[in-house]
Amino acid sequence: MRETNGAALERARPLVKKLRGVAASDGAGVKLTRVIGTPQLEALDPFLLLDEFGSDDPGAYIGGFPDHPHRGFETITIMLAGRMRHRDSKGNEGLLGPGAVQWMTAGRGLVHSEMPEQEEGLMRGFQLWLNLPARLKMTSPSYRDIQPQSVPQVELPGGVRVRVIAGELAGTAGAVPLDPEARPTQPYLLDVELPPGTVASIPLPEDHHAFAYVYEGQLSLEGSEALARSDLAVLGTGDGVTAKAGEEGASLLIAAARPINEPVARYGPFVMNSREEIIQAVEDFREGRF
Ligand code: FE2
Repeated sequence: MRETNGAALERARPLVKKLRGVAASDGAGVKLTRVIGTPQLEALDPFLLLDEFGSDDPGAYIGGFPDHPHRGFETITIMLAGRMRHRDSKGNEGLLGPGAVQWMTAGRGLVHSEMPEQEEGLMRGFQLWLNLPARLKMTSPSYRDIQPQSVPQVELPGGVRVRVIAGELAGTAGAVPLDPEARPTQPYLLDVELPPGTVASIPLPEDHHAFAYVYEGQLSLEGSEALARSDLAVLGTGDGVTAKAGEEGASLLIAAARPINEPVARYGPFVMNSREEIIQAVEDFREGRF
């Protein structure tokens, strides 16, 4: 745990769009809320999708996500509650519990399953899809589980806690550190907990696209109206984000990444640059080449 001086930002990013997710179902009938990847926000380059799943009704999650393929991007799973087991066609296996994160680079393709390892109780978390640029879409698949104790934490003034899943904050490198070669999107993914009434200023690179998603409590961003649980804020340009918690405190995810600015062709679990590449992906999958 590190403390920082919490220096104020010169130009906090304003809220440019506020929205809420829509009810959706994926995998074998898992009920979820799709926040990015819908008609109201198809993508926020390079973020392709954000889902929140959360239910204490086993009927809403027990079917899980049986074997399915991915190609052309990265999937990031963040668990808040419950247990999920991952298995993939490269022989990787891992169990994600509360606070754990899975970062999977699908690259040229793999088949995996994500199945609940519980029959009752709360299952809650997120899945985020992060695009890969054309030159990395067919890279070798890779996968890592990050257990909760391996996610670096930074403490800001007022008892604000930030789990640095990716990127860096106040000199602390994230569990997935910045590596412009391997991951030119240079993603930041921060899980922030604000005690009641506290203000946190978090620097983010100016050339990144960014959003904040509130998953507990209430907060306001610099100059914005109040945001409640399940509100997504698309952030404008600036040098970071300033968030002020309401009376109950707040928890939010902050994500930022450098846009890729390439054409996007998406079809279910495949995200490529052209229709031809999508047809190839479907064919490769059918022929068992993943
Ligand atoms: Fe998946």
